[in-house]
Amino acid sequence: MEKVTLTINGMQIQVPSNYTVLEAAKEAGIDIPTLCFLKDINEVGACRVCLVEVEGAKSLQASCVLPVRDGMVVRTNTKNVRETVKTTVELILANHNRECLTCFRNGNCELQRLSEELGIEEVSFQGEKRVGTVDDLSHSIVRDSSKCILCGRCVNVCKKVQEIGILDFTNRGFNTEVAPAFGKSMADAPCIYCGQCIVACPVAALREKTDMERVWDAIEDPDTHVIVQTAPAVRAA
Ligand code: SF4
Ligand code: FES
Repeated sequence: MEKVTLTINGMQIQVPSNYTVLEAAKEAGIDIPTLCFLKDINEVGACRVCLVEVEGAKSLQASCVLPVRDGMVVRTNTKNVRETVKTTVELILANHNRECLTCFRNGNCELQRLSEELGIEEVSFQGEKRVGTVDDLSHSIVRDSSKCILCGRCVNVCKKVQEIGILDFTNRGFNTEVAPAFGKSMADAPCIYCGQCIVACPVAALREKTDMERVWDAIEDPDTHVIVQTAPAVRAA
């Protein structure tokens, strides 16, 4: 593979010409934060957390989808980059269900970790929030759109890795959510419950149903005393 030479944070490096700036930085030991990026699965430039400054460019660029060029000069840690990324994450948080203390992913959430790393202590933007839905009809996967950051990782893992594609973006604009088509529950979609979407999700918008929740869902038939598995309807978050 042909190589190109570029400069990142003053360090000159040579990388294959099919690399992105994110890959080149990683090879040079330079950490660029990411959120929507999932190598070879979700390379869509959706979250804008991986922004970098490129000499000569009018605006900041998403490094995860930015191909390297010979002679490119990149900076990953300028004041402009730091402040813009911090604001971007604050905007994501502004429309996110932030009940972290009672969240399934508390302490193991990529958004929470990123917010800590960026030193976000309060969210400056307060406004209308998307009305979320909780789908806990299936016996094993719970989807809570109030926590979804619309990164698309689950969509592409279901489509490209499992080749099933039951999840996709539905609705538009402020009401966009990631769900099975036609307002179906995960229980009614042809989901095989592989759990790949849960593994791909950076937050707790998709999670495994706990054993305790399965017990709560169970209802005993008063006549036969047989446990009948049931579940509540899709409800507002
Ligand atoms: Fe991303 Fe999770 Fe939302 Fe899927 S459910 S788009 S993985 S945040
Ligand atoms: Fe690059 Fe999301 S990680 S845009």
